[in-house]
Amino acid sequence: VIDIRKLYGATDAFTFDPGFTSTAACESAITYIDGDAGVLLHRGYPIGQLASQSNFIETCYLLLHGELPTAAQYAEFETTITRHTMLHAQFDRFFEGFRRDAHPMSIMVGAVGALSAFYHDSLDIHDPVQRNISAIRLIAKMPTIAARAYKYHIGQPFVSPRNDLSYAENFLRMCFAVPAEDYVVDPKMAKAMDRIFTLHADHEQNASTSTVRLAGSSGANPFACIAAGIACLWGPSHGGANEEALLMLKEIGTPDKIPEFIEGVKSKKYKLMGFGHRVYKNYDPRATVMKESADEILELIGADNDPLFQVAKELERVALSDEYFIERKLFPNVDFYSGITLSAMGFPTSMFTVLFALARTVGWIAQWEEMLADPAQKIGRPRQLYTGPTERDFVPISARG
Ligand code: ACO
Repeated sequence: VIDIRKLYGATDAFTFDPGFTSTAACESAITYIDGDAGVLLHRGYPIGQLASQSNFIETCYLLLHGELPTAAQYAEFETTITRHTMLHAQFDRFFEGFRRDAHPMSIMVGAVGALSAFYHDSLDIHDPVQRNISAIRLIAKMPTIAARAYKYHIGQPFVSPRNDLSYAENFLRMCFAVPAEDYVVDPKMAKAMDRIFTLHADHEQNASTSTVRLAGSSGANPFACIAAGIACLWGPSHGGANEEALLMLKEIGTPDKIPEFIEGVKSKKYKLMGFGHRVYKNYDPRATVMKESADEILELIGADNDPLFQVAKELERVALSDEYFIERKLFPNVDFYSGITLSAMGFPTSMFTVLFALARTVGWIAQWEEMLADPAQKIGRPRQLYTGPTERDFVPISARG
């Protein structure tokens, strides 16, 4: 490659790092990952402790404010979130514009971006008070939008949020209740849902978070930035992997088909979805908790012998003792067991990434806020290594062969 910049006299240097494998784009005090040790800390607290002793709302407060809340701060934060769960009534008409068979993620990208048209009174990104209102609105309205995307997708009427329920209970009710029928959320299901949200709340500078930061660095409004994050999350190499992982387990079908499948992976015909991670070269600590949740839910619904779970467990056992996976440090990631758990809870595969987006919204918004609060914040503008032609003269169309 001729470095064209040299022809124009450039002397400055830059790093060429495709996929940003070793380039930090920002400083952050929110989340720490040690991929070799399998450690994930939010504001210093291990994810395992947050998943077992905290809850999603408290983790949201922690991510946004840097410290765990006092009881009074917690109560106020929870009440504020609860009071912002409703969507403007006109939003229903917006939903009706989508094809009824639209993938719920496509609805999420559009609906969350559209919040900037409905809630344009909190778009001043230079005002910390308005930034906070936007953050609250996003965290509070995400379950309502996600549940509506689901209801719309399956052709059922929308169920409105209720202020007397917890975040997870409210979401499950909005998804599974049918208007005019009694529906009581099983507390164990609500706890599992809450834990899934907590496990997905933030994960430092992954592709979607970096997308949110890059979009936000130009001064774009928070709703547009989160819509950009959702679009990025949708890809099968990122959040879309939970959907793909379950489809893969279904395709394998029974444990006896695993050796043949593994051979296909080794010959690069396909990837083992839900395995591998850019940063974790050890067991993903979220996967450990997610596996426990999968166990609990399957036991709760009396499906501990669920064939998909059996395939998953056996696939994990085989892969973890196979040289191919050991050499490449490929371990199950959070998505390997989240699909089984969500499926057992009654969600179709098309909703898996939607739930991920719902939970990750707090991480995205905390990172966006951290970036904007930094006085040294600059627009994100990656460099490139140009590999095209050097300068040449324009040829009129009549003279082109
Ligand atoms: N199955 C089989 N082989 C794999 C897998 C996999 N899931 N992941 C990586 N490898 C292999 C690659 O083929 C490569 O092998 P090679 O050295 O023989 O060429 C080697 O491991 C290194 O892989 P890279 O692609 O360089 O790893 P990278 O860090 O770029 O990719 C990624 C990380 C995208 C997550 C990848 O592991 C993957 O696609 N996994 C499946 C999708 C998935 O589960 N994504 C969820 C990630 S977690 C999240 O977003 C919540």
